[in-house]
Amino acid sequence: MSDLLGRAGAVLDANWVGQSTKPSARLYPHQWSWDSAFAAIGNSVRGLPERGVAEMQALFRGQWSNGLLPHMIFDTTAADYRPSPSVWGTAEVTEAPDAVLTSGMIQPAVHALAIRLVGESLEPSERRKFYSHCFEPLRAWHDYLWRERSTDGGLVEVWHPWESGMDNSPLWDSALDGLAWSAHEVPAYERVDTAHAPEHVRPTTSDYDRYMWLLGVLRDYDYQPERPQDLPFRVSDVLSTSIAALADLELAHIADFVGAPSSEFHDRARQRGDRLVEECWDGDSGTFLNIDRVAGEPIAVIAASGLLPLLLPHPAIDRASMITALQNSLSVSTPVSGKGFVVPTVAPSDPAFEAERYWRGPVWINLCWLIERGLRSKADGRDLADELRSGVLSLAKSSGFREYFNPHTGEGLGARDFSWSAALVADLVSR
Ligand code: SER
Repeated sequence: MSDLLGRAGAVLDANWVGQSTKPSARLYPHQWSWDSAFAAIGNSVRGLPERGVAEMQALFRGQWSNGLLPHMIFDTTAADYRPSPSVWGTAEVTEAPDAVLTSGMIQPAVHALAIRLVGESLEPSERRKFYSHCFEPLRAWHDYLWRERSTDGGLVEVWHPWESGMDNSPLWDSALDGLAWSAHEVPAYERVDTAHAPEHVRPTTSDYDRYMWLLGVLRDYDYQPERPQDLPFRVSDVLSTSIAALADLELAHIADFVGAPSSEFHDRARQRGDRLVEECWDGDSGTFLNIDRVAGEPIAVIAASGLLPLLLPHPAIDRASMITALQNSLSVSTPVSGKGFVVPTVAPSDPAFEAERYWRGPVWINLCWLIERGLRSKADGRDLADELRSGVLSLAKSSGFREYFNPHTGEGLGARDFSWSAALVADLVSR
């Protein structure tokens, strides 16, 4: 185990760029929002919480004046990535910061969790200073999510597949198929991702056409549509909602520590849980389903993200049925030597499942880590949490800190030396 921790530390050191962590050397050379939060957690558990502090402070340099925390901050010295800042057009948006160039989309709000965990690795006086420094920016970010993205009363809406972090998951297929786009409206773009990873493990050209078309739509609104109901792609996302609810509970904890009122954060978390249960629960599959707001219907894909309400203490969430769904549909015995199981992004029985293509089936360590946390949060899931932890550690030992893994063979795919894989394995090792 100490060997695995040492190797994870070496990856995080290699990807550290002075005040933040790039997800990987070549494929992702900028700062990404949820990647940074996971890296901060990993650095803290390896005894470097000051890096976690710097990482979170560097990330919030990108925050917009309306509270939006963008999913990317560009490193202007790293050129080999597309779409570049000029395609995003955020330099012309009044609410965007002047000091750094950012994207105009969001990513799942794991930041309050990261800040709470980093803080717990600091001495109490340093923790107070850090939490006090983060409290208002975090509150503004959560207020943005509540005000602008929870228009149906608690479920977080994503306006582009990139906002969920799970770019080409089958979760978005039907909503993307319903777009009235045409090829001549797609802004000219080039891809460099396929120079760094084989095409068959990345999103397809047809996916990218639609990503770029949708980016153009959002850019035309300066990423702040007055009437979100006019947008062509709006999905209430279980992953983003579960994480936002958890984040509000973490923010309540931070508020209590700094002596600020916390009841509104508890209320929001509860309302998000209420809406998940009322609108997204699917008793047949034992998972929560995303909802396509444009088509007005649930999206029937059985995905690992549909188990993330396990993270929430909400009393109406049916944990027992989710645990059964995990065992029956969403777990695969570890494909390498070792004990335990891993969780593919999509149920292998789903017709859209592809074992090697990015978010369409491979195992991602951050989803496994979140599910492990949700299982471990109550006595009914602890044995399974142990098995999932073993499965993930076996995979990392045998295939390294790859970006994602084929659930049937354990083969590592995508980027090598991927920061969040290393960071979250470091956390699992340190339990
Ligand atoms: N996940 C997308 C990419 O970088 C957008 O952030 O390739």
